[in-house]
Amino acid sequence: MSALQITTGVAYLVAAVGFVVGLHMMRTPSTARRGNLMSASGMVLAVAATLVDAISRNGSLAGWIVLLAGAVVGSAAGILGARRVQMTSVPQLVSLFNAVGGGAAAAIALADLLHASPAHPIALSLSVPIVLDILIGSVTFSGSLIAAGKLQGIVASRSIRFPGSRAVNVIVALVAVVAALATILFPVGVTTVLLLLVAALGFGVLMVLPIGGADAPVVVSLLNAFTGLAVAMAGFVIGNLAMIIAGALVGAAGTILTLQMAAAMNRSVASIIIGGFAAADTATSAQPSTETEDVRALSADDVAIQLAYAQHVIIVPGYGLAAAQAQHAVAELASLLEQHGVDVKYAIHPVAGRMPGHMNVLLAEVNVPYDDLLQLDDANRAFDTCDVALVVGANDVTNPAARRPGNPVSGMPILDVDHAKAIVVLKRSMSPGYAGIPNELFTDPKSGMFFADARQGLTQIITAVKQYVTT
Ligand code: TAP
Repeated sequence: MSALQITTGVAYLVAAVGFVVGLHMMRTPSTARRGNLMSASGMVLAVAATLVDAISRNGSLAGWIVLLAGAVVGSAAGILGARRVQMTSVPQLVSLFNAVGGGAAAAIALADLLHASPAHPIALSLSVPIVLDILIGSVTFSGSLIAAGKLQGIVASRSIRFPGSRAVNVIVALVAVVAALATILFPVGVTTVLLLLVAALGFGVLMVLPIGGADAPVVVSLLNAFTGLAVAMAGFVIGNLAMIIAGALVGAAGTILTLQMAAAMNRSVASIIIGGFAAADTATSAQPSTETEDVRALSADDVAIQLAYAQHVIIVPGYGLAAAQAQHAVAELASLLEQHGVDVKYAIHPVAGRMPGHMNVLLAEVNVPYDDLLQLDDANRAFDTCDVALVVGANDVTNPAARRPGNPVSGMPILDVDHAKAIVVLKRSMSPGYAGIPNELFTDPKSGMFFADARQGLTQIITAVKQYVTT
């Protein structure tokens, strides 16, 4: 083994330690930023080691031009996309990243396969990861594009089915499996490879189309796990240790996240994949009540009085906070109340918003101390002694209907906002949340509704609270 090979190996090992420790640090908000930085540094080291290794192999000029052009275009697109994306559109961006990750991994395997010939056959030990890479990478590529389209509203977010769609699904899956087996056994010849590619791409589309919009983020997480697997397979194909480790980590982390998201939404991952979402689809299309007769409407002044004279306030943020970009206003209100001696905490539901950790990210952006964020169980204990719960743009995650069977949110763990002594809900109308059903919290006798855009409403409340704080 040459000195260069040993150095590259050590660099990959250090990079892998960076990935693992970084991922571990991402468990809690207080270390997440440093964890992200550490994992990114590991990736920079791995890429540098790969480049040094490539230089030592004296590649062709054309190869270098393609490599550099790809790196420049890819990096520019990634940086621009990540910097410009709205916080509410991050799930779509993640889905696009999954698509390019899966697609790139499949392309690596395809290139290896197409270079094979009867004079240079591929060993079975290599044809298995090659075929798995093409299969998983292609499903991820097309499925992620459809998922991104659904989240962005380019593809209808409802479940899309056609007569016999399940049978077509099964047939396409069978074709993919048969083509995969044929390619493993006879990895020479374009026909089976093309069949495998087309069937896998088709299966990705057919797998994601029947999934209703509310479940699309879970599928994005699942496809993220697939990307990891495809990248790990590509690592086996080209003998790159860093790719195998990074891919395995992404695969494992994506799988755990998928399971947690599904549990927090009371969905089973299996039912998502086989497209068994008929109940949720029906519920989303149900006509929810938008009547305001049974609710108590509040003014900014009413809300300010309740907050200013409370001892314990819990703010419950939801998707509307993100949509209105109201995180600055909510932090300003909290700090104003705290200066006035009010104890303010935030109740964080694991699937509030549209992506895992959505509320944590928004509140971290405005430097809300991590200790002020109560996770589900702690929050539910705190509601029992809470004077005012201020719900800002949250809906489904507070719906007491979840405690009863027979509706789309049944069984979903919720924030027990209705246990607070008084409840204020800040949203623009009586429109339902993602699940498409009315929220019983809004007609609770303890509840009052302040109908406004979250940012504008909070600004009005801040102005009103200031009167009571200074008098
Ligand atoms: P939702 O139930 O979706 O409700 C959000 C509410 O925000 C809406 O009722 C809307 O009412 C209000 N809103 C929208 N724009 C607003 C604005 N500018 N100002 C004030 N309010 C505004 O949100 P949630 O309670 O956060 O629950 C999340 C939902 O998404 C759950 O059903 C969950 O299962 C689903 N989901 C989450 C995830 C993850 S990982 N977070 C993934 C998939 C699905 P108005 O229109 O009346 O204002």
